Amino acid sequence: MSRTRVTSFAISLDGFGTGEPQTRETPFGHAGERLHEWMFATRWWRGANEPGGSRGVDDAFARQFEPGIGAEIMGANKFGPPGWHEDPDWKGWWGPNPPFHTPTFVLTHHAREPIEMEGGTTFYFVEGTPQEVLEQVREAAGGKDVRIGGGATIIRDFLSAGLIDHLHVVQVPILLGRGSRLWDGLEGLEKDFDVEAVTSPSGVTHLTFTRTEG
Ligand SMILES: NC(=O)c1ccc[n+]([C@@H]2O[C@H](COP(=O)([O-])OP(=O)(O)OC[C@H]3O[C@@H](n4cnc5c(N)ncnc54)[C@H](OP(=O)(O)O)[C@@H]3O)[C@@H](O)[C@H]2O)c1
Repeated sequence: MSRTRVTSFAISLDGFGTGEPQTRETPFGHAGERLHEWMFATRWWRGANEPGGSRGVDDAFARQFEPGIGAEIMGANKFGPPGWHEDPDWKGWWGPNPPFHTPTFVLTHHAREPIEMEGGTTFYFVEGTPQEVLEQVREAAGGKDVRIGGGATIIRDFLSAGLIDHLHVVQVPILLGRGSRLWDGLEGLEKDFDVEAVTSPSGVTHLTFTRTEG
């Protein structure tokens, strides 16, 4: 059965998934790269062209990004900095061959024509409720899972609507104080999930929320 999954969404101890302000030069605002240093250190991130990298728990979790995923849904603020929709040439941060390799749906109130990239990624620009959008995206996923790719705003909205089956959050031991927060308005969320935590020697804690059956 096709599930909706969040993979490796990194938050600070105070629950922010990004800092501020977000600009072309600073995609994560004042957080810089600090939310993802654990990932950059993994063997998986380094890939075929770079030697070394950790092979422990961080690597094992980071590798869950791709297997079984047939489509992604991301928010407008993950796709680009404020005002990207005024730039007809903006095609996301990721260059000609983005790492998604599937249909990728950008939730936005600024619709535009789909953009076909190299490597199997096509960006589609859609709006609607989380339920409506998920229905459309499930079809595109061809029976595979749908990744809810962030940022915090859309993950929160999908959680609120009860539409996430598996949530993997990486708690990074930094305090950002400001930015976009994941947990607001989700009081008692844990009651619907089996929750597990694994701490890595890198200092981050991997939290998994798996929706309970029935
Ligand atoms: N920590 C991590 O692991 C991680 C992962 C991914 C991204 N990020 C970061 O998170 C930040 C973005 O997060 P965010 O919380 O600011 O925003 P976001 O979740 O990426 O996007 C929110 C925006 O999406 C559009 N949107 C949301 N729901 C919609 C709907 N139902 N219909 C139409 N449009 C809808 C709206 O934009 P418009 O009205 O302008 O269209 C809304 O302001 C970026 O800095 C990104 O780099 C972090």
